[in-house]
Amino acid sequence: MGSLRIRAKIDSRKKEQDEPEHRLKNKGLFGLCIEMLLVLSGLFSFTIPKQTMPFPVKPVQHSRLESVDFNNLPFGRVFSDHMFVADFDGRQWTNAGIEPYAPLMLDPSSAVIHYGQSIFEGLKAYRSESGSILLFRPIENWKRMCNSAIRLNMPEIPRDIFMDGLQELVKRDAKWVPPGEGNSLYIRPVYFATDPVIGVHPSEQYKFLILTCPSGPYYSHDLKVRIEKTYSRASRSGTGYAKAAGNYAGALYPTQLAKAAGYDQVIWTDAATNTKVEESGTMNLMFVIDGVLVTPSLSASKLAGVTRDSVIEIARYWGMPVEERDVYVSEVVEALRNGKLTEAFGTGTAANIATISVIAEEGVDYTVPPVDASSFSTRASLFLNNLKSGGEDDPFGWITKL
Ligand code: COI
Repeated sequence: MGSLRIRAKIDSRKKEQDEPEHRLKNKGLFGLCIEMLLVLSGLFSFTIPKQTMPFPVKPVQHSRLESVDFNNLPFGRVFSDHMFVADFDGRQWTNAGIEPYAPLMLDPSSAVIHYGQSIFEGLKAYRSESGSILLFRPIENWKRMCNSAIRLNMPEIPRDIFMDGLQELVKRDAKWVPPGEGNSLYIRPVYFATDPVIGVHPSEQYKFLILTCPSGPYYSHDLKVRIEKTYSRASRSGTGYAKAAGNYAGALYPTQLAKAAGYDQVIWTDAATNTKVEESGTMNLMFVIDGVLVTPSLSASKLAGVTRDSVIEIARYWGMPVEERDVYVSEVVEALRNGKLTEAFGTGTAANIATISVIAEEGVDYTVPPVDASSFSTRASLFLNNLKSGGEDDPFGWITKL
């Protein structure tokens, strides 16, 4: 019964990915007439194969590809040749196209600089062993960006602009998708307000960009994290669930304090009581307690991570019990003390599955037991990495092949 439900969920997601609602179809008048006639005659219907939207391209004169050391890829510092650009002019989307990656011309009064109306996304493209390029659940990033946009009073981004722009850009810079374990092309859609007006108001004009950078792993070692109770990342009905730039700005100072004390990241707690674990700076959080995968349930103050959702789906697919619920700091500490907590890790697009080796609370460092090949997080990480790079069958319908 349980596995039937899982299968139904997987199948419906597959269908959703295969049948975009308002994707542009290049049917032409003749094709449209034929299709309408056939549908009307009730004989049968068919869909003309989908094509991505053609965008104008201004190619670079000289590619920088040759200058990149693909064996030494720091995260987010090297950008590929091109970027995707589109503007919202207050009424409609314009200027959509691919151009050379270059500095922007921005009015100093642009609303984003003053009031922070800015949101972003993060996803990755992988090179399979056969050389093809694979995207991991890109539609989820489009949906989340629209949710973030609504919260920051910005127009939603049309699916065709996001999805087709993304795919066309990655195809154009396909040579920048690095081979090798742990490497990928990190894709950063970013969307911000450009009204040249210094008055607090929702901007009318916006810019949407997609940048890409060949990158190695975000974290190259196990993490020491500190439970944060003085500062908060997000309030109960704030912007925590949105991928808003301001959420990250507010996290910098407390994280810097934790770093100065020898930790890699903080674990945020709920703003109201500081008793419940929320998420970590760049990741959602998961624990294995007594053989159960335990993770804070989603709320308005937490980011709905795509990797978080994927790991939960994988755990359920494997028959592992999962609890999405309030997770109290006290129970995490208690489980660390009595040995029931066997794994702690973060999940995120950049971070993948990042092992946590130390959790600090109230000045005490608790050591998380080391993982081995049989640990859930090790197996999930391996499975997910293989799936993303085409080395594993994809029973979930998560992969888009370009
Ligand atoms: C991501 O995982 O894609 C993120 O956006 C986290 C971080 C790099 C800001």
